[in-house]
Amino acid sequence: ALRYSSTQKPQTHHQPPPPALKIQASFKVAILGAAGGIGQPLALLVKMSPLVSDLHLYDIANVKGVAADLSHCNTPSQVRDFTGNAELAACLKGVDVVVIPAGVPRKPGMTRDDLFNINAGIVKTLIEAVADNCPDAFIHIISNPVNSTVPIAAEVLKQKGVYNPKKLFGVTTLDVVRANTFVAQKKNLKLIDVDVPVIGGHAGITILPLLSKTKPSVTFTEQEASDLTVRIQNGGTEVVEAKAGAGSATLSMAYAAARFLESSLRALDGDSDVYECAFVESDVTELPFFASRVKLGKKGVEAVIAADLEGLTEYEKKGLEALKVELKGSIEKGVAFAQKQT
Ligand code: NAD
Ligand code: LMR
Repeated sequence: ALRYSSTQKPQTHHQPPPPALKIQASFKVAILGAAGGIGQPLALLVKMSPLVSDLHLYDIANVKGVAADLSHCNTPSQVRDFTGNAELAACLKGVDVVVIPAGVPRKPGMTRDDLFNINAGIVKTLIEAVADNCPDAFIHIISNPVNSTVPIAAEVLKQKGVYNPKKLFGVTTLDVVRANTFVAQKKNLKLIDVDVPVIGGHAGITILPLLSKTKPSVTFTEQEASDLTVRIQNGGTEVVEAKAGAGSATLSMAYAAARFLESSLRALDGDSDVYECAFVESDVTELPFFASRVKLGKKGVEAVIAADLEGLTEYEKKGLEALKVELKGSIEKGVAFAQKQT
C-alpha cells in the first residue's frame, strides 16, 4: 500500500479536526547501489512507504544528489546519504532490511553469468560489511547473476559466523511480475487477480513459471504454455535488447523490488499472511538454493511451499529437470568463488 499525501481540502469552521494519523513508519532500510538505474526509482518507491522511518542510500558516487532530491518528498522517512567504503558501516548500523542492486548490468549479447567476474566481488565486499554491521537484517540481493551471488553471500555470512538462511533472499519478484502481466494479457484476465508462481532461479531456463498453478485457475494449450514460458524466461533479454546497450530492466525491477520489500516489512510488522517467490536456501529439491513461494514472517522465511512442486504438467516437469543442471553449476561457481577468497 503506497500512499501519497494529498493537498488538504479547505475546511469550514464547523468541521471537526481530522483524526490523528496512526504513525506506522518504523523500519530502517538501506539500499546499496542507490544511485544506479534500479537504485534511484527504488529509493523513490521506498520513500513512499508508510512503513519506513529511515532510508539509507549508499553508493560509490553520485548518491548525495539523489538523497537531497528525495528528502524533499513529504513522506515520513528520513533520507541519509553515504558515499564510499568509509561510510558503509554507518549506513548499515541498525537497519532492518538491506537491498542490494549494486553492480554492472548486461548489454545485448551477454548472459547474466557474464557479469560474474565484476559483480561477485562487489557482492562479497558489501555482504562482509552487512555481516559486521547488521547481521540480523533481511538481505535482498538483486545483483546478477542472482543464481551465484546469493550462494556467495551465504558463504561470506558463514565465514563471518552470522549466516541465517531464513533472512537471505535472491530477489526473483520481477519474474513473477512479468509472468502475471504476460498471462493476464494472453488470457484477457483482470491483472490484479493474476498470480503465477515462478520457481528455480533467475537466469534463462532456470526461470520456470508454473503456469498450471496460476490463480485464478486457467487452462493453457501446449503452445500457449510454451510461448508464455519462453517469453517469461526471456523477459530480461527483451528489455536489454530494447535498451540497446543502455542497460537492463530498471523501472520494472524497482517496482518488483519495492513489492518484495513491502512484503518483507509487512511480515516484520506482524502480518501473518505474506507469501512471495524468492531464491532461498531450500530443501524442496536436491539443490541447496532454489526459488519458490515462501511464507514470510518476523524471523524471515517461515516456510518454503514445497507443495507447488507437486502435480506439475509434463512440460513443467521437463523444465524442472533441465533447469537443475544449469542452476547447480551456477550455485557451485558462487560457492567456489567465496571459498577461494579466504
Ligand atoms: P547501474 O549500473 O545503473 O547501477 C548500479 C549501481 O551500483 C551504480 O550506481 C554503481 O555506482 C553502483 N555500484 C557499483 N559498485 C558498487 C559498490 N562496490 N558498492 C556500491 N555500489 C556500487 O545498474 P542497474 O541497472 O541498477 O543494475 C544493477 C544490478 O541489478 C545488475 O547486476 C543487474 O544485472 C541486476 N538486475 C537484477 C534483476 C533481478 O531481477 N534480480 C533485475 C534487473 C537488474
Ligand atoms: C532481468 O531479469 O531483467 C534482470 O535479471 C536483468 C537482466 O540482465 O536481464
